[in-house]
Amino acid sequence: MIEASQTSAPSVKQCCANVYGSAAAKYLLGDSFHPGGLRLTEELAGLLALTPDSLVLDVASGKGSSAFFLAERLGCRVVGVDLSEENVQQANAEALAKRLSEKVEFQLGDAESLPFESGAFDAILCECAFCTFPSKAVAAAEFYRVLKTGGRVGISDITKDDSPLPGLDGLLAWIACIGDAQSLNQYADWLTKAKLKVAISQQRDHYLQEMVQAIRGKLLVADILIGLKKLELPGLDLQQAKAFSTAAQGAIATGHLGYGLIVASKVG
Ligand SMILES: C[S@@+](CC[C@H](N)C(=O)[O-])C[C@H]1O[C@@H](n2cnc3c(N)ncnc32)[C@H](O)[C@@H]1O
Repeated sequence: MIEASQTSAPSVKQCCANVYGSAAAKYLLGDSFHPGGLRLTEELAGLLALTPDSLVLDVASGKGSSAFFLAERLGCRVVGVDLSEENVQQANAEALAKRLSEKVEFQLGDAESLPFESGAFDAILCECAFCTFPSKAVAAAEFYRVLKTGGRVGISDITKDDSPLPGLDGLLAWIACIGDAQSLNQYADWLTKAKLKVAISQQRDHYLQEMVQAIRGKLLVADILIGLKKLELPGLDLQQAKAFSTAAQGAIATGHLGYGLIVASKVG
């Protein structure tokens, strides 16, 4: 496990990608790695006005669950890009198994250097990942570049105010998307500086509360199953994860930590 002091941009990015490709992430989060799951993805898709003609880029697509949802529910064509090789391989295998390879594909790539031509996409989705990008200015500029004029970007993300959050620091904080989480206004500023016009910015804190509660339940079960040697989650420090989730629950209850969404468009 990388030490908490190793929070340089490249090690954070790669470590984050490795963790989100791991068995522990799958056990704790399932296949949809963001608060609100596909309910919130559906809401964002509505705000992005996606249609079967839309070509959507899912930035930091994880296991691909949102991309599959958009293709199956709305008929969109979706390209997912993620920094985790494991996630990209698994998601492409899943696309084959679902017979969706014509509509959905996944590529290895970095949000800060998107491997696509300018003006290629009608819409961009980026769920629970913008906060982890070390250079938000570069990622936002990349969103602008690969969007068509008139295209929209929808972000959902962890939000955090300026108060110090005891027990929620170090590398685990980066992995849990808290390390460089900011307020919705600050995220909106990054998009505005990249020439995107912000139209909607709203909190959805209850989704984070639900997710942390569900994770705490799974950690308790994991403790028992690991003790009985019926489960292995290599790389996961259960006690550290439990303490972290307790601190997160407190920060959500006091309004310092939350979850929100933003929709912006490329007007020119
Ligand atoms: C919290 S998960 C969210 C995954 C997915 N959007 C979802 O909601 O299920 C964060 C994802 O961001 C990916 N990631 C982190 N940094 C990235 C970067 N710079 N470029 C592309 N993907 C990145 C990780 O590999 C991981 O799959």
